[in-house]
Amino acid sequence: MSFTPQDTSTLSKAEKYVNLLKDAEVLIDRQADTIANMANISRLIYDYFQFHWVGFYRAMDDKLVLGPYHGPIACTLIEFNKGVCGAAYSNGKTQIVADVNQFPGHIACSALSKSEIVVPCFSGNKVVAVLDIDSDEFATFDEMDKNYLEKLVKLL
Ligand code: SME
Repeated sequence: MSFTPQDTSTLSKAEKYVNLLKDAEVLIDRQADTIANMANISRLIYDYFQFHWVGFYRAMDDKLVLGPYHGPIACTLIEFNKGVCGAAYSNGKTQIVADVNQFPGHIACSALSKSEIVVPCFSGNKVVAVLDIDSDEFATFDEMDKNYLEKLVKLL
């Protein structure tokens, strides 16, 4: 079984996302728990885009708790109202941050992160996790990332 894309260098961003979504539909195992699927999805996104950090924080009791990820070591606990992740959790809307230094309260888990997107994951109308992606370049994320990543987290 291999889901690692052979060569993504010739694909446009939209083509990468289309392929990524097709792979995710096959890869997500309905018999496995969500954490197992989050782990593979984190790596799948990395395989297509080589972002600096890709992973999930899960809402547990009164905090967001680090879940499966691919990338450098990250903060384990985030308050519900703190940082970009807390903003996505609290208002249930995808956050696109072109320059993390301009986002009040941004939590710098890695000094290399320059821009970020955080997508809420819903169960019914409740946010149960967020997908956080950090880039080591400014202004990496736009509406296209938002639209495809929102479709992706719905598969979980
Ligand atoms: N930067 C995030 C914290 C998580 S790390 O980027 C992995 C934030 O401000 O919520």
